[in-house]
Amino acid sequence: MRDASPQAIHLKDYKPTAFLIKSTHLTIDLGEENTRVTSTLEIVRNCSEDAPEDKNLCLHSGGLCLDAISLDGKELGEADYELTSDSLSVRDVPESFSLVTTTTIKPQENTTLEGLYKSQKMFCTQCEAEGFRNITFYLDRPDVMSEFTTKIIGDKTRYPVLLSNGNLIGEGDLENGRHWKEWHDPFKKPCYLFAMVAGDLSVVRDSFTTMSGRNVRLEIFVEKKDLDKCDHAMRSLKNAMKWDEEVYGREYDLDIFMIVAVDDFNMGAMENKGLNIFNTSCVLAKPEVTTDLAFQRVEAVVAHEYFHNWSGNRVTCRDWFQLSLKEGFTVFRDAEFSADMGSPVVKRIEDVTLLRTAQFAEDAGPMSHPVQPSSFIEISNFYTLTIYEKGAEVVRMIYNLLGKELFRQGSDLYFSRHDGQAVTINEFTAAMEEVSGRDLTQFKRWYTQAGTPSLMVSDHYDVESETYSLIVKQSLPETPDGLEKLPQHIPLAIGLIGSDGEINTELKGSDAGAVDHHVLEVTEAEQRFEFNGVTEKPVPSLLRNFSAPIRLHYDYSRDDLMRLIQNDTDGFVRWDAMQQLGEQVIDELVVSYPNTSSVEIDSRLIEACRAILNDTSMDSAMAAHLLSLPSEASLSEKASLVKVDAIHAARSLVRQNIATALQHELEATYQRLDQTLAYEPSAEQIALRSLKNVVLGYLSLLPADKHLDRCISQYHSANNMTDTLAALSAVVNSEHSGASEQAGILLDSFYQRFANEALAVDQWLAIQAGCQKQGALNSVMQLMQHDCFEMTNPNKLRSVIGVFCNQNLVNFHHADGSGYEFLADQIMTLNAQNPQIAARLLTPLTRWRKYDDCRQQHMISQLQRIKALPNLSKDVYEVVSKSLPT
Ligand code: TRP
Ligand code: ZN
Repeated sequence: MRDASPQAIHLKDYKPTAFLIKSTHLTIDLGEENTRVTSTLEIVRNCSEDAPEDKNLCLHSGGLCLDAISLDGKELGEADYELTSDSLSVRDVPESFSLVTTTTIKPQENTTLEGLYKSQKMFCTQCEAEGFRNITFYLDRPDVMSEFTTKIIGDKTRYPVLLSNGNLIGEGDLENGRHWKEWHDPFKKPCYLFAMVAGDLSVVRDSFTTMSGRNVRLEIFVEKKDLDKCDHAMRSLKNAMKWDEEVYGREYDLDIFMIVAVDDFNMGAMENKGLNIFNTSCVLAKPEVTTDLAFQRVEAVVAHEYFHNWSGNRVTCRDWFQLSLKEGFTVFRDAEFSADMGSPVVKRIEDVTLLRTAQFAEDAGPMSHPVQPSSFIEISNFYTLTIYEKGAEVVRMIYNLLGKELFRQGSDLYFSRHDGQAVTINEFTAAMEEVSGRDLTQFKRWYTQAGTPSLMVSDHYDVESETYSLIVKQSLPETPDGLEKLPQHIPLAIGLIGSDGEINTELKGSDAGAVDHHVLEVTEAEQRFEFNGVTEKPVPSLLRNFSAPIRLHYDYSRDDLMRLIQNDTDGFVRWDAMQQLGEQVIDELVVSYPNTSSVEIDSRLIEACRAILNDTSMDSAMAAHLLSLPSEASLSEKASLVKVDAIHAARSLVRQNIATALQHELEATYQRLDQTLAYEPSAEQIALRSLKNVVLGYLSLLPADKHLDRCISQYHSANNMTDTLAALSAVVNSEHSGASEQAGILLDSFYQRFANEALAVDQWLAIQAGCQKQGALNSVMQLMQHDCFEMTNPNKLRSVIGVFCNQNLVNFHHADGSGYEFLADQIMTLNAQNPQIAARLLTPLTRWRKYDDCRQQHMISQLQRIKALPNLSKDVYEVVSKSLPT
């Protein structure tokens, strides 16, 4: 909340602090009314050359009250300090001293879920990025690293479990049924990695022996009813620990590693040192209530947070402009881990789909920013797809440029040289440069230039000389920062496909000889690459395995695409060619909408689908992806003007056509895959279920009764949540005459069965909020009145509001503007209650530039309505003010 317009903070203004905090002793006395936090800080002057020579010590405060303050044992008077809503300045402090402050907070009233708060009956914390200042007065920035000791006091019956970072060093009982535990973390850390938890929790225990033979206790704390949902997370944790030893040579460092599951959490999970805190949705899993997708997400998030112990905790960020140093690198690490646990090409396709739809859209929108932003108003708004996913792509490009061995040498050097330090992205690239001898100067523009680069590729074949040329033009979009863009260093992996498959060719100027795979290093605005010994005009296979996060344009004919789909050895390009074919076919219908009946659907798309269905040797997950047309979100991202209704109608029509033309093959495939297996979340089984359910989705579009019956029967016979939900979703979205009634019956039965499983209820809400049929907004508003809905629980908000506004495009973007007004209403409620979530949910409204005039007007007026709200949070203010027209 604010008085004047919030101000931006700039990377160029970075200065170290004048003081350092050698040690931090906290006593947190938990109460139902008041929680008292006493902090004892051993403070010394920062002697580093570039540190300012301030006389006063200025600590951050998140609106805290000050009950008492003393310096070296002497109580301070009002003349000795100044307290404002966001700071506590202590005047004329000595070079080295001890400062004790006491404050009183009310975690039970904290709905922002930042700092210390209550999730259900449990106390827990979320300090990244700047939540610690809501707990006590501190230098709340990541370059101030301190040794923490934490004593927690609480009621023994309500809170038998009291946890904090590091090792338990003491415990005891107190009068009035209270008790205490004291924890000490031997590793210096910034306060954003601080955590504490108090509650009546059950625990699942296991252990892991590290590569040097140390025994680590592993503990997952959950509510008692969830004890049967921890096995998958525990298995994933042990796999991740082993993987980090094998692939990065990184061992865990404390004797205990704890995970706590909480219901109310703004994000997926948090890597607090030795005490990770997880959203229940990212840790709990069991077959009856958890989908395959959620099983995979648990594995990935558990690994992600664990990997942060090195990439983030042992080596941390100097300031929040360096956020991608830990997040981009850690996402790259968890993606490679997931690839190793399952199918690498399928994982790649999934990640690229997210990047291309959501990150490209972010890069093209008003909040566009580089992987290393140069300014922000509220850092919470910068936990973005650009920082995480594009940041991971940038690390992946370095990995591919250096090769596996040199990359490992580079990461070894980075971790050993900077262990215990808070550093910048430049330290990471410098280590990579040093071990490889490569100059990454131009490459580093990936970190500082916003926007998605485009490559225009054209080609020329000369029969006489048997040479083939690729002409590559690079262009960089304008972005809100208005900065002039310079050419980037883009690794473009390619192959050439002849009529019989791949051809070996020699790249002029390279000494690799005649090979079937080349990595072209595009560094200039325009460049020509020549290949010799090319005996026929090839079709280029471009951007293999998505070698760079760019938009690639090449004018493929449909026959070219068919050749890639049939012959390319690069699974990613095969899938991408299929997506492009689908997109071309859908676009033809979009153009002629609403007169679509005159358009004939290209039989090549049907034939490509038929071939996939008939090829029983193909990996099923790959087949499922090949058969899935580009989503409405991805089609919208590619369009410069989004024709909401035309895209929806065109895509549905193509799906309908595929289903009708291939009914026989689809039925045969369904029958082949419809077998009851003892559920396992293994890559093999997940692949089979994903294909089966894509096929079920197509079949459900057909009019005969038996197709609706098939869905209903799958719903009843399923032994796992993936099959249950796929069937339910097919019925809920079915246009079949009997479908609405059946949908009502199944939805009721689902709720009856799973009412006590919060995560299953979230899925139940999401299916209804995502229903593509007319009137979805009404059911969304009704769902928000349902007993199970809680406005204070982010998972519920994401399942209803998030799904409706991001995945139910045809209803959210209704031309009458009702979807926009609904979203603005919710943001205005959430602004004060939970600013982080409010700002995040706001995203779809900020993309107004892509819609027709009428929708633009509606969206802009809702943004203006939000902007006029008194007491706008920094979070919402930043997003609204940056997205309104200037
Ligand atoms: N560091 C966390 C992660 O990516 C992100 C995170 C968790 C977070 N909770 C948050 C970021 C709250 C901002 C606010 O693993
Ligand atoms: Zn992370």
